[in-house]
Amino acid sequence: GISRKMSYGFNNPFNGVEGKTPFLIGVSGGTASGKSTVCKRIMEKLGQVDMDHTERQVVCISQDCFYRDLTPAEKLRAEKGQFNFDHPDAFDNDLILSTLQDILAGVKCEVATYDYRTNSLLRDQTTTIYPADVVLFEGILVFYFPKIRDLFHMKLFVDTDSDTRLARRVPRDINERGRDLDYVLNQYMNFVKPAFEEFCLPTKKFADVIIPRGADNTVAIDLIVQHIRDLLIERASSGRFVVEPESPVASHS
Ligand code: ADP
Ligand code: C5P
Ligand code: MG
Repeated sequence: GISRKMSYGFNNPFNGVEGKTPFLIGVSGGTASGKSTVCKRIMEKLGQVDMDHTERQVVCISQDCFYRDLTPAEKLRAEKGQFNFDHPDAFDNDLILSTLQDILAGVKCEVATYDYRTNSLLRDQTTTIYPADVVLFEGILVFYFPKIRDLFHMKLFVDTDSDTRLARRVPRDINERGRDLDYVLNQYMNFVKPAFEEFCLPTKKFADVIIPRGADNTVAIDLIVQHIRDLLIERASSGRFVVEPESPVASHS
């Protein structure tokens, strides 16, 4: 795995105030394409998912934790499925930018938890993001704004066909996000599908790697994981990280 043993000097220009500059990976794709699942796989293969947050070398943050607060009128619309959560303006993009800049500067930061059932952030339930070696930032519109897009060292796009995505979104939103079938289908037809075509799909061209079929594509995921390992080893030799290559046993797990 990637070792946490590091020697940082104050003179190292790559280091932020509190430590290291992580390798920042953006992961985009349509709703229910498998972004969250792909990130989980990458994390599992790169390190220890079951680790304590303070020990993590690889962390994953969702763009959903940066939805902006709704006005009372918008809240009512959201409850009826009449709010567009798939539009770039639904997010607090300034907060996304400043958080990613903090992360790149090696500064510890806090990310709130998003509650899909109430369409709101749980500000008292935050996750501390400690400086890590690899940070994955995943969401439907993470490549939309150039200022945010340009921060990523690597851009992945999870490309799963629309029928499959809808077929996965319906049960997920009913079982995990407290919606009913009518709500999910109306929201999909009125907002999710048109916004995907207008805002998300056009950002596919910015991807370095397109992952067809999402988490099913173990070949692509293994290639990406190996590439990340190679990059980290390279950066280690330039004094930014110390990386120990996987042992042959570990790499077959
Ligand atoms: P996203 O984060 O892009 O919206 P998720 O990773 O949450 O997508 O996947 C959407 C839903 O589909 C989830 O319920 C997830 O468990 C399921 N899912 C994801 N990938 C697969 C797959 N390869 N096979 C079957 N179900 C999957
Ligand atoms: O995980 P996924 O990429 O699907 O999450 C983004 C989706 O969550 C968007 O397509 C948006 O429609 C949906 N969403 C929602 N209700 C919210 C916030 C987001 O249905 N309150
Ligand atoms: Mg997701």
